[in-house]
Amino acid sequence: MDIITQILGNVANIYDVCFMFWCIVLLYLSLKKCFLKNRKGKVRLFLISAFTNPLVLYLVSLPAMSIPLTAVLFVFNLGDFVKTNPGTILIINVITGSFLYMFLTLVFSRLVGKWLKAPNRSLVTFVYLMFGVFFSVIIRGYSNETLEASLSAFVLSIASTTVLFIASWLLYHFVIKALSRLTDKKCEVNTKIFLIPPVIFNLTYVSLAFTNFNLSFESTTIVYIFSTIIIFLFIWAFYVIIRNINATNEAIEAKDEVKTLSVEVMEALAHTIDAKDKYTNGHSVRVAEYSRMIAEKMGLSAEMCENIYYMGLLHDIGKIGVPNEIINKPAKLTDEEYDVIKTHPGIGYGILSEIKSRPDLATGALWHHERYDGKGYPEHKTGEDIPLEARIIAVADAYDAMSSNRSYHDIFAQQYIKHELEQGKNTQFDPEAARCMIMIIDEDKEYVLHETCESGE
Ligand SMILES: [Fe+2]
Repeated sequence: MDIITQILGNVANIYDVCFMFWCIVLLYLSLKKCFLKNRKGKVRLFLISAFTNPLVLYLVSLPAMSIPLTAVLFVFNLGDFVKTNPGTILIINVITGSFLYMFLTLVFSRLVGKWLKAPNRSLVTFVYLMFGVFFSVIIRGYSNETLEASLSAFVLSIASTTVLFIASWLLYHFVIKALSRLTDKKCEVNTKIFLIPPVIFNLTYVSLAFTNFNLSFESTTIVYIFSTIIIFLFIWAFYVIIRNINATNEAIEAKDEVKTLSVEVMEALAHTIDAKDKYTNGHSVRVAEYSRMIAEKMGLSAEMCENIYYMGLLHDIGKIGVPNEIINKPAKLTDEEYDVIKTHPGIGYGILSEIKSRPDLATGALWHHERYDGKGYPEHKTGEDIPLEARIIAVADAYDAMSSNRSYHDIFAQQYIKHELEQGKNTQFDPEAARCMIMIIDEDKEYVLHETCESGE
């Protein structure tokens, strides 16, 4: 009988060792699927998975922390306390060991992420911490020696390890596969999620330490059943989390696609407007760029700077409604022809007002020819009654007119443009927008911001 129970015990132990080896393989497969993809380095990755495996890190952490703990107890001469309170010492060892374990897991996962050149290293940490949780629940105080050496103990051990094999396969099949779709993307995982593993780890071990890991057969069975339930709940929770991140990512991508399309359509429209006027090639794109630069100089929010860029792109869209002969007339315009030109802000406003999802776009088109002193058109608005975006576009528009070749003049020198902007402060231009444009000119030592600049073509 003794020999049979010994054999059974050994079989159970070998099966457990197989599972531990499988844990190393599992981490290797997960890192390979998520981060290595088709790259070389499989052997090195396997070795890394073995040496930095959370299971291995756990196995070294508790003994490692017992050394300084013993040293502290010795230094403070607490030998008697150790004898009378072995449980407390064990709990302190478990808590400090668990923190060392989490620390090592975090450090190694970061290093492995660096080695893997993972686009998103927080996801490598996520994989490690997920396995950390998994292992911290499965290493539930194997205390075979306290179990009655019997057939039922053997069955319990084999059954629970088999359940763990199934659970780990589910973890790989559902969670890791869902995660592998995420790793190429520059998404951020909410770091609060990283609090889960240490909390679970501590709860599990502190609760076990209260029993001094000295469980009876019945209580071991209960612990096994509960921990199995916890494992499946965790796998489900991780799966839901990753699925949600994937869904959010897909929604963001879809939104980005729509945004890219919108920007491309706006730029195509801007080119269409500019193609109508042979003297102002690339004008709209340049005005958009300059407007954004002024807005940035003025310290406006990133969102506002972006909006101003779009408004700049479409500010002259109303020119579509102005006859070609007037727009392209090489000679001076008559008063009647100039009156026709002056209708383009209103026409532009009419067109852009149709874009209900972006009502702000029409602002730049309608008021970009207003002057700060009220002598502009079409509504003779003054000062800050003119929307800020339109005041900025007005400065950018004037700058581009002076830094481009027109039918009636060549590109002006920077000094001349600066002088004009200075003179126009509080009369033609918003003083702050003009001041910022002057600063941009000062920084543009090579005078690259003119008609032939990159943005214009
Ligand atoms: Fe205009």
